[in-house]
Amino acid sequence: MVETAADSLEKVAAEVMGCPLCKLARTRKNAVPGEGQLAARVMFVGEAPGRSEDEKGRPFVGAAGKILDQMLERAGIPRSQVFITNVVKCRPPNNRVPEEDEVAACRPYLERQVALIRPRIICILGRTAYSSFLGGGSITANRGKVIEKAGQKYFLTIHPAAAIYNRSMLSLLEADLKKLAREIQKGDAGSNAGADSSLEDFM
Ligand code: URA
Ligand code: SF4
Repeated sequence: MVETAADSLEKVAAEVMGCPLCKLARTRKNAVPGEGQLAARVMFVGEAPGRSEDEKGRPFVGAAGKILDQMLERAGIPRSQVFITNVVKCRPPNNRVPEEDEVAACRPYLERQVALIRPRIICILGRTAYSSFLGGGSITANRGKVIEKAGQKYFLTIHPAAAIYNRSMLSLLEADLKKLAREIQKGDAGSNAGADSSLEDFM
């Protein structure tokens, strides 16, 4: 039998960092593969790196990241134990919405990350990830809900950037992430019966 090298998150990241597959490669400073645990039960997927992310090569480290961190903390979901990435791994010029060809070129990286992590639930952050995974629709009508498609569970919420200067959006995001936390714990009931919810519950 021919041995094929197993895929890994590190391999995906290395390929992303040198990726020439769409026009965003020409304007990025650093590609942003994503970060987190292989054992993560939850994967958060945003739209695309912004300026700070492009500078640092890490996801959600700017203003939107600050909001996400705050809301994760309030929901009791440790950022260190989830996986966070974006639909496209390189920053679009002036933070414009990623174009269809860019999303398509980048999709295999996201698919490989999902296949490796096999998250119990994928938390969709906003419109671009909603379109990419589920074809899109009304976020207002469907946020805060678990959606199942092809054996994968998704949870839809608003993009943290939408909550930066908007208190009501911030409350919605907070409520949604608390609901997501309960959803994850529900999934633990069988495998971890009776145990108190603890940090490990999110691994
Ligand atoms: N917005 C996103 O969608 N992703 C990031 O990583 C940062 C901001
Ligand atoms: Fe490659 Fe994705 Fe970056 Fe385009 S956005 S260059 S497909 S890593």
